[in-house]
Amino acid sequence: MSPTGTSDFVVVANRLPVDLEKLPDGSTRWKRSPGGLVTALEPILRSNRGAWVGWPGVPDVEVEPIVEEGLQLHPVPLSSAELSNYYEGFSNATLWPLYHDVVVKPVYDRDWWNTYVEVNRRFAEATAATAAQGATVWVQDYQLQLVPKMLRMLRPDVTIGFFLHIPFPPVELFMQLPWRREIIEGLLGADLIGFHLPGGAENFMYLARNLLGLNTTRASIGTRSRFGEINVGFRSVRVGAFPISIDSSGLDELARSRAVRNRAAEIRRELGNPERIMLGVDRLDYTKGIDIRLRAIRELLEEDRLDPAQNIMVQLATPSRERVEHYVRMRSAIEEQVGRINGEYGQVGHPVVHYLHRPIDRHELIAFFVAADLMLVTPLRDGMNLVAKEYVACRSDLGGALLLSEFTGAAAELRQAYLVNPHDLDGVKNTMIEALTQDREEGRRRMRSLRRQVLAYDVDRWAQSFLSALRNGR
Ligand code: ADP
Ligand code: F6P
Repeated sequence: MSPTGTSDFVVVANRLPVDLEKLPDGSTRWKRSPGGLVTALEPILRSNRGAWVGWPGVPDVEVEPIVEEGLQLHPVPLSSAELSNYYEGFSNATLWPLYHDVVVKPVYDRDWWNTYVEVNRRFAEATAATAAQGATVWVQDYQLQLVPKMLRMLRPDVTIGFFLHIPFPPVELFMQLPWRREIIEGLLGADLIGFHLPGGAENFMYLARNLLGLNTTRASIGTRSRFGEINVGFRSVRVGAFPISIDSSGLDELARSRAVRNRAAEIRRELGNPERIMLGVDRLDYTKGIDIRLRAIRELLEEDRLDPAQNIMVQLATPSRERVEHYVRMRSAIEEQVGRINGEYGQVGHPVVHYLHRPIDRHELIAFFVAADLMLVTPLRDGMNLVAKEYVACRSDLGGALLLSEFTGAAAELRQAYLVNPHDLDGVKNTMIEALTQDREEGRRRMRSLRRQVLAYDVDRWAQSFLSALRNGR
């Protein structure tokens, strides 16, 4: 057994919750990391006073462990070559497209795989050195699927949970992966494996049974209930569905504050007091369907079904994975679409689409949610989509409408949203018009029901349901 650390509760994720930023003068500072995983886990870990093992967000730096607001951060260094093979390559050009229904073609590269194995081993070793005897370790996401097995070999005393934040794909697609057995075996090192939806959990059970020939239960898996079980030697591994969520009450409270309300009114004025504001908030990722909503808007303008003077779109896009080829291409395509719409339908000082390619401060983002009449969430595939839930949590006024792709995990819970098939452009356009012209009472009824869901099932409940299943299983 390798030497133990002192933390009773350890989260392991590809990224730390903060990224190190190198400034032009050579100094450094920490800034919040992008993405839903950090949004969800940060509040939980702060209240649990645990440790977080992850990459500090820039390559080729050695950073000492730091304590940030009671949270111990243990940086795992990556070289530029590792970043390119493990993160940009295997994680984001192989696994990411494969797990998102092959929206773009996954690349299968043996060198990338070898680096993925090496880097997963480094994360497992760093975790083993951080976790106290008998600790609970919670491994996160697709970048670290080999860590559970590696960590179990180093530290059989710890309890290991794994949660996948992205969809687990249909079996036929997963079977493309040359290293499919290794991935399933890696995950089976955990005591509990969590997915957002029962469908993903059941795909995994099927693979454990049919690819590895293991004994498993066969009953259907429920949401936060009716877990599957897989016999792995003398151990039993549980498999469940735990839809992730947000700090709903925290957001609700912030969105009610006078400062946010004032800022939302000011945003509307700055946009020229249009009748309706449409909003998109995403990492700039090809799975998010940003191009689809822009195409829908362009066609509605062409067909005179949207008045460009009265209907304004704001697209807030956080830069993401900027060295991966498909992300580079998609950024150009989206910026071309924005330019084209504004070129054809905007006026000097009054564009139709306002587009910001940078992360937005949290308070400012909440003010945008409060200001928006229609929230456009149109992914081709998304494990959950926290943005949809954030919008709902910010609408205590029961105003606004949520247009939501059926192919998000959130659609399984937010049934009163305006649900769309993003592949059906006419359907998206018609539903946009329906939502923009909704009757006020109908809008309030839908939003009330959405809010009941989002406020009841918050991120705390997600973590508690996962962690109590993990404790009870051991
Ligand atoms: P993903 O995990 O794929 O990035 P999610 O929708 O689940 O997608 O989570 C995204 C998180 O990042 C949300 O908390 C959202 O508010 C935040 N976010 C997305 N775009 C921006 C932006 N432009 N500025 C600031 N935060 C953003
Ligand atoms: O939620 C999916 C996810 O890939 C997380 O694992 C990740 O932290 C987030 O999106 C942002 O992506 P990245 O870390 O590649 O910038």
